[in-house]
Amino acid sequence: MSFSLEEKFDKMKNVRDQVLHLKESPLYEYRVQNKYFPVVGEGSLVAHIMFIGEAPGKNEAETARPFCGKSGKVLDEMLESISLNRSDVYITNIVKDRPPENRDPSPEEIKIYAPFLDEQIDIIQPKVIATLGRFSMEYIFNRFNLSDKLGTIGDLHGKEFKIDTYFGSVVIIPLYHPAVTLYNGSNKDTLVQDFQVLKKYIQYL
Ligand code: URA
Repeated sequence: MSFSLEEKFDKMKNVRDQVLHLKESPLYEYRVQNKYFPVVGEGSLVAHIMFIGEAPGKNEAETARPFCGKSGKVLDEMLESISLNRSDVYITNIVKDRPPENRDPSPEEIKIYAPFLDEQIDIIQPKVIATLGRFSMEYIFNRFNLSDKLGTIGDLHGKEFKIDTYFGSVVIIPLYHPAVTLYNGSNKDTLVQDFQVLKKYIQYL
């Protein structure tokens, strides 16, 4: 089923409302105590490319915007390297609330937030899903029956995996998380090269 822009807007608002009131989440109390916001996602609801990161950090939880801190700067740079900007794509995370001290999201947290990501994929119906980091890579591979193709992000980054969904074929491209460039500058070249793989698709979208 495809949706009008108005329907997409309403459905996304519904996702946001549900996340906002997700008291069952182990991260809900931490959000409230710190006056943080959930970070649902940002960008075009008719985007052909959807980026899926891990979980919000402090900057994101304070502003309700995904990738608006140091990793976000790297992501912006990468988008610019293939002549895209944020308003051309949709950016979200698998976990919508900030885990304390930026720790990795737990399996329980991924499980509780994943249905919202699934719903967002149904709303956007992207042609390309670019995962940022291993958590979203693993979730998306399992979700779309690619478990047998799973490996380490070191093996899979920049590779393309075509799947068929009810809304058409989708290419999944695992990418390193932009934060890897902050720890090791030489990873930046790899990320730049992997974004060139995305560029190939922009021409056909
Ligand atoms: N890291 C993520 O995975 N997502 C964000 O939104 C910010 C940092």
